[in-house]
Amino acid sequence: MSTRPPVLVDLKFNPEGIARILKTAFADRGSINIADPAAKGRDLSGIDYALLWKPDADQFERAPNLKIIFSGGAGVDSFLNLPGLPDVPIVRFVDRSLTTRMSEWVVMQCLMHLRGQHRHDQHQRERRWGKLIAPEAAEVTVGIMGLGVLGQDAASKLRVMGFNVIGWSRTAKEMEGIETFDASELDSFLAKTDVLVGLLPLTPETTGFYNAQLFARLRQGGALGKPVFINAGRGKSQVEADIVSAVESGLLGGASLDVFEVEPLPADAPLWGLENVFLTPHDAAVSEENALFRHVENQIARFERGEALQFVIDSELGY
Ligand SMILES: NC(=O)c1ccc[n+]([C@@H]2O[C@H](COP(=O)([O-])OP(=O)(O)OC[C@H]3O[C@@H](n4cnc5c(N)ncnc54)[C@H](OP(=O)(O)O)[C@@H]3O)[C@@H](O)[C@H]2O)c1
Repeated sequence: MSTRPPVLVDLKFNPEGIARILKTAFADRGSINIADPAAKGRDLSGIDYALLWKPDADQFERAPNLKIIFSGGAGVDSFLNLPGLPDVPIVRFVDRSLTTRMSEWVVMQCLMHLRGQHRHDQHQRERRWGKLIAPEAAEVTVGIMGLGVLGQDAASKLRVMGFNVIGWSRTAKEMEGIETFDASELDSFLAKTDVLVGLLPLTPETTGFYNAQLFARLRQGGALGKPVFINAGRGKSQVEADIVSAVESGLLGGASLDVFEVEPLPADAPLWGLENVFLTPHDAAVSEENALFRHVENQIARFERGEALQFVIDSELGY
């Protein structure tokens, strides 16, 4: 029997899939799945590693001796504010498949706005042959906020589709064929942007960031007529009441949202009924469970061999 403590798992997604994978994952040490009723009341004080996504609020108090925290997703905001968060490395999930799927979503949304897809949908419902003339992608500037793993991949794929792509991030970046702006150059970035794509992590700085004041600084009168807002970062970075007003008043021509202030988005939220607003239920790029568990096993093996962990967040910055 292994003398290594089991890995604590508290992942609030796909419980059946997680339970199935845990039958074989962490073969050298086993796991404690918090979703399993047998885990209730278990002593977690000897646990070294935890894999978490929206964990129970008392998880760090129950497991006070963790050496590493693994996030079940690319973001870490679901547990950074919980009481008792220990000062240990926090490793986020970075994965080729997740990145690819996010870029598919971003490119699809940009193309739907470029080609006026909501009007085609309307015509189809009316059984009407309504030809539309759309601008070419090269006439539209997509401004990506957040040039990390996801933002950079989406930027390069939007370039392949022919869009003019620019990007904004806290620190300056260099990307071939893409004009980039750092945090101090926000106004210049927004003034050139026709389609704003949000791929920022949720931190104190980015909370409530996509608001009416920001939308008012986007370029008006570009090839799409009015600017469009697309967000797949985190919902609490957006002010939904401002998105609704901006779409209704015509300050924004449309939006695509995968993330929301409150999830699931309540059935009576005004966003559901807006013209030219595409909504998806936070599934732009879900974590693929097999890849997630392989990634955690690899990182634990690295750590136990004395090698540096990968994808560790900066806990001062919160991402
Ligand atoms: N909807 C979904 O299904 C889904 C799936 C996965 C991830 N996400 C979200 O996507 C986010 C981004 O993921 P990622 O892997 O690309 O993260 P990442 O590699 O850490 O990149 C984050 C980017 O945001 C920039 N940034 C952070 N705070 C900023 C600020 N205050 N001002 C300006 N720029 C700022 C960073 O700037 P620097 O480069 O200067 O550090 C970096 O370029 C995740 O945190 C998560 O919330 C959503």
